[in-house]
Amino acid sequence: MNISKRAKVIQPSITLGITAKANELKARGIDVVSFGAGEPDFDTPEFIKNVAIEDLNKGVTKYTAERGTPDLLKAVCETLERDYGLTYDTSQVMVSVGGKHSLFNTFFCMVNDGDGVIIPSPYWVSYPEQVRACGGVAVIAACPPESGFKMTPELLRSKITPRTVALVLNSPSNPTGSVYTKDELLAIGRVLEENPHVNLITDDLYQKLVYAPAEFHSLPAMMPSLLPRTIIINGWSKAFSMTGWRLGWAAGPKDFMKACANLQGQSTSNVTTFTQRAAAVALRDNQSFMKPWLEKFNARRKMIVDGLNAIDGIRCPEPLGAFYAFPDVSGCFGKKVNGREIKDSMTFAEIMLEEAKVAVVPGAAFGENRCARLSYATKDETIAKGLQRLAEALRK
Ligand SMILES: Cc1ncc(COP(=O)(O)O)c(C=O)c1O
Repeated sequence: MNISKRAKVIQPSITLGITAKANELKARGIDVVSFGAGEPDFDTPEFIKNVAIEDLNKGVTKYTAERGTPDLLKAVCETLERDYGLTYDTSQVMVSVGGKHSLFNTFFCMVNDGDGVIIPSPYWVSYPEQVRACGGVAVIAACPPESGFKMTPELLRSKITPRTVALVLNSPSNPTGSVYTKDELLAIGRVLEENPHVNLITDDLYQKLVYAPAEFHSLPAMMPSLLPRTIIINGWSKAFSMTGWRLGWAAGPKDFMKACANLQGQSTSNVTTFTQRAAAVALRDNQSFMKPWLEKFNARRKMIVDGLNAIDGIRCPEPLGAFYAFPDVSGCFGKKVNGREIKDSMTFAEIMLEEAKVAVVPGAAFGENRCARLSYATKDETIAKGLQRLAEALRK
């Protein structure tokens, strides 16, 4: 069967091989410690689930407007007001099947063939693939561990060409957990001000997962001159532990969001109807349930960073947000574990899985071959066991 050029450029996820292998070992009854999860290990709060159950039972099961119900869109606008201090109209927002879908709609409606989208690396795996699927060029800007994995004004300037259509910013970051300061963002914003043809896409999925004294800052909120060319992406997955609900939102200029709504109206249509009131209730809640979650994540963060730094050959910077540690494991390259040499992040992950029964995600999946990603959205005991196994294997 013929496969389109557009489909052919999309790469399978590097992480799939490791995940498949981990699952295979688990199926054979082998106790594998997994640091792979990209989702909180908490259940969705009861009060949110109950609204969806109630609506399902009431028969709220028909189509809605493609962007979402007017009330849900209003709740997104209230969130923009409360969490960003930004005033948006419901004609400027849309709810889609996850932040991932909001991003895809954005790239599809923004990128013409051959346009460049600047993606700071390490990056979340789907950005380059989505850009390429939309006919664009993923312009990777390497932000090494030494730079705190962050884009600088100089690096950004060096990557901008007349064909650049957008910059993607993700703070807190998946996979690095790095969080941009106010000044760092403003410096990037000034480069964007000098280059009015470059749009800004801010992926704020981890906005609520920041560890004091670090704080979340929104560049467009601090620099409103950028708003006419900014798309803000956010959602429910990480903050509300609602990954499986598949809900995300985007906010941007009215004409752009209309184009996104046309696309969504002709592709997926609305998100699941009986999730929409529950999603609005989640946004409007005082969200006090997040505090204990954050405290738990914070304790685990300290545990994993300290544990990793105690292992010879691993150097783990302190992540300030999200729930990932992204240690530099290149100090282990050249080491042999049971006769097998660690050469790069892929072999590190393979050998740790097979020899230590610990699943980590190779940094190569995120564009940084010296590192590995460990999610600490898992039980304390699991973290302790995994760290012990890694230390033991690397001591051999
Ligand atoms: C940085 C980042 N952006 C977007 C997403 C998409 O999340 P979802 O589609 O579940 O809302 C993820 C999920 O892992 C992510 O890590």
